[in-house]
This record gives sequence, structure tokens and C-alpha cells, in this order.
Amino acid sequence: MSRTFLIIGASGYIGSYFLKNILETTELNIIATKTKNSSASISHERVKWLDLDISDFAEVDSFCDQLSKLNTKLDVIYLAAYHHPDNVEKDPQFAWGINIVALGNIINKIPSIRTFYYSSTDSVYGESFDGYRFKETDDHVPFNEYGKQKSLAEKIVLSRGYSVIHYPFLIGPSLANKKHFYDMIVDDFASGKKVEAFSDSCRSSLDFNSASLYALQLIERGDNFGTVNICADIGYSKHNIILRVANRHGFGAENIKSILAKESNWVSIAKRPLVTLLDNSKLKKILALEKIEPKI
Ligand SMILES: NC(=O)c1ccc[n+]([C@@H]2O[C@H](COP(=O)([O-])OP(=O)(O)OC[C@H]3O[C@@H](n4cnc5c(N)ncnc54)[C@H](OP(=O)(O)O)[C@@H]3O)[C@@H](O)[C@H]2O)c1
Repeated sequence: MSRTFLIIGASGYIGSYFLKNILETTELNIIATKTKNSSASISHERVKWLDLDISDFAEVDSFCDQLSKLNTKLDVIYLAAYHHPDNVEKDPQFAWGINIVALGNIINKIPSIRTFYYSSTDSVYGESFDGYRFKETDDHVPFNEYGKQKSLAEKIVLSRGYSVIHYPFLIGPSLANKKHFYDMIVDDFASGKKVEAFSDSCRSSLDFNSASLYALQLIERGDNFGTVNICADIGYSKHNIILRVANRHGFGAENIKSILAKESNWVSIAKRPLVTLLDNSKLKKILALEKIEPKI
């Protein structure tokens, strides 16, 4: 039987990189979903775009009926989420409908699954003390509602025998039809604005391109690896990441103002840990990798 990729939430930041990298590294066809509110990112003869709102159960039923007529095995990459931590905190019930209820419904209906990878987050863990890197087997201690919902969603996915990816903060130029934080800071540098960046907040950050390529290498193995942390070897502060972006575009450290999250008056609705680091030794062992760092 043939294989086809199905990317749910393909029009977003990570989804666009998955599309690009599947097209560049395989000959397989892709079914890419987006909601009616957004537009297709990458157009290609091997990509079939379909509108899908995962919280509309009638639409999900008809979408899954269409899939079952295709006679193909699906490699599902599940990216759809209501995920801005402050928005989730403001409207947890609405977020629950998308992050938990809709996931629980559609995961039960997609036919002929070869692999299923769910994109989760380091926010399921809490604070890393003394440079501790969280392993896949560590307990979840989420600080906010977003982390709690992602943690519960992971259990749904794992209970079906599928796989979960823990991504850290990801960055890179947007391939989607919307700007990413990366693009906004490059705009700021270009217009002479000084960019403020936390130097004490730290994540095992990675670039979108590497993050999607490592996941695709796991999918190509065809096995179920359970939960896998896909992240850099070490932690990077926002300041360090932004400095890399600046250097890449010909700007220097003088364009960045270093500030401390601990002392700043930046108010976020969702509580966030200062430092969350992930251990990537499982990924490195599976893929026989020596070093993982963000390529910015
Ligand atoms: N970016 C990061 O640093 C990061 C880190 C860790 C984990 N993650 C996780 O990775 C996933 C993708 O993140 P991203 O950065 O690519 O964000 P994004 O650009 O906002 O993508 C989210 C996608 O979810 C889709 N979506 C939202 N509500 C939907 C609904 N009701 N029905 C169908 N699709 C819906 C959106 O579709 P439309 O655009 O078509 O409306 C969009 O394509 C999320 O689950 C996020 O929690 C991201």
C-alpha cells in the first residue's frame, strides 16, 4: 500500500517547514489541512490542501471518510492547537475544546495510520534547577494551563500507541503567510530599533528547519518511539538566540539590549518557568547523532 503524509495544521510555522522538508527529502504526496481563516503556505503538485476545523465534528467525519477512500497508509503530523499560553490562560474552556476534545475525537477516526506524531512542548515540565535537563520519562509539572492541556493531550496520544515530540522554543524565518518573531526582530534591526532580550531565561532552543527534519527522520524509521525530546544539546537565552539572528543579518550586539526577566516589568498572564532544559540523548541515540545545535 502507498504512503501519504497528512499534516493537520500545515499552514502554521512548523507545518510550513514540514511541507518544505517532505517535498525536499521524499517523493511522497501530502494532504495538508488549514482552517477557512488561513491561506495555504506552500503550493506544490504533490500537496493537496483541504479545509478542516478539528472542532467541527461533522467536518471531521466527512474529512475522515475522504481519507478512508484513498487506500493509502498515513503518516500523520499533528500540529493543530490553541497554543498561545496567555490566550489559553484567558479562555481555558475554548482551548480545551480544541486541544483536548477535538484531538480525542479525530485521533479515533483517522483511518490507516502508519505513524502519528503529536507536537507538544517543553511547557509540560516546570523549572530546571542547576542545569537539569528533563528526560522523556520525567514527571510533568506544568506552570500554566497551556502546559497542563498539552500534558493531557500527550496522554491521549500515547494511550493510542502513537508518538509525542517535545519541542522547545523554536525559531526561524517564517515560510507561512504570517510573520514570526524572527521576522519581526529582523524588521526591528533593519529600522534601527534596539531589541530587548532576556539574558536569564533559557530554553534548549532549535530552529524550525532542524526541528522538522529530525522528526521526519523518526517518521522514516516507521517505529513508535513514544515521547522524544527534539531540542539542542544546551540551553540558550533569548539574548543569545537574538544575537545569532542579528549576526546572521549583519547586525551586532549593540542592536540588542540585555534585560533580566526576573527584574523586568513584562507581565504575562500565564506563569512561565525561567529555565526549562530538555535532554536529547534519546533522539541522538535513535538517529545516531553527535551534536545538535540551532542553525540560525
Ligand atoms: N513554535 C514553537 O516554538 C512550538 C514549540 C513547542 C510546541 N509547539 C506546538 O507545535 C504546534 C504548531 O505550532 P506553530 O508554532 O506552527 O503554531 P501555528 O503557526 O500557530 O500553527 C498552529 C496550527 O494549528 C491550526 N489550528 C488551530 N486551531 C485549529 C482548528 N480548530 N482546526 C484545525 N486547525 C487548527 C492552525 O491552522 P490555521 O492557521 O489554518 O488556522 C495552525 O496551522 C502547536 O501544537 C504548538 O503547541 C510549537
